[in-house]
Amino acid sequence: MRVGVIGGGLMGSGIAEVCARSGVDVTVVEVDDGRAERARAAIEKSLGRGVRSGKLSQQDHAAALERLVVTSTFEDLEGADAAIEAVVEDETTKGDIFRRLDELLPDARFLASNTSSVPIMKLGAQTKQPGRVVGMHFFNPVPVLPLVEIVTSIMTEPETVGQVRGFAQDTLGKTCIESQDRAGFIVNALLIPYLLSAIRMYESGFASKEDIDQGMVLGCAHPMGPLRLSDLIGLDTLLAVARSLYAEFRDPASVAPALLNRMVEAGLLGRKSGRGFYDYSTS
Ligand code: 3HC
Repeated sequence: MRVGVIGGGLMGSGIAEVCARSGVDVTVVEVDDGRAERARAAIEKSLGRGVRSGKLSQQDHAAALERLVVTSTFEDLEGADAAIEAVVEDETTKGDIFRRLDELLPDARFLASNTSSVPIMKLGAQTKQPGRVVGMHFFNPVPVLPLVEIVTSIMTEPETVGQVRGFAQDTLGKTCIESQDRAGFIVNALLIPYLLSAIRMYESGFASKEDIDQGMVLGCAHPMGPLRLSDLIGLDTLLAVARSLYAEFRDPASVAPALLNRMVEAGLLGRKSGRGFYDYSTS
């Protein structure tokens, strides 16, 4: 099987890595050669981490890299059996990609989006076959977290859902949950208001960021506190999801705190930019 992954950022490179480790040929498309090179380097680094932790043999590491093609030419996706889009959380950009995928891959088993928040129906509407369009929402870090949320639009065909479920579970070894096509789906509808309220708590001076995070790690056994988790997700992504949730439900709990807006405007995007609520420039 050959899968196309569109976008080689945090999520796209993680998805591509998991595919390659699971024996799937994968073609990652980025917008230019520089980004393609960075995506390949990120996947290689993460695969190297697998070797160091003893989870991946040298042989499997080499085989995974052989299955991986990273390119800046969209047409290199031609002939792929399925596609997973994982570009920036922007409806227009994603819609454009679905139009192009629809033309390039008329026989694909499914055209999936890893969107955190864009309605799947809006993406399906860009294609001639909305029945094949489905949400396939992975969680960061993709190689570590076992969940895939399958999101069905009102047009997604049951056969498409079966194909995605089979691929995610049997090929990638993930566990699937299914959600209707509402902003935030299951996980982000619950998670994002929590993260935003932690940011509001910090913004108001109510408690320090360290104490807020430690409270949830030691008091509730979360693997990381909400501010560190926001940094991991990426503050730009968090903001985009918050805006989608607010646009759909008008719930004040989903209004982005001013501090989040300012940090994104300043380019403080969390781990991926080297600084968010915490400093990662030396790690
Ligand atoms: N890639 C590959 N492997 C990784 C990794 C990465 N980016 N990050 C960590 N790992 C692996 C490590 O190699 C290690 O493996 P080992 O046990 O075999 O050595 C294992 O994960 C644990 O890592 P660490 O010891 O370095 O660190 P922690 O124990 O602190 O775990 C964490 C790090 C896995 C990130 C953990 O803190 C965690 O699960 N945090 C919560 C993450 C979370 O909630 N993600 C969901 C975000 S929401 C989302 O993605 C949806 C979106 O739409 C917003």
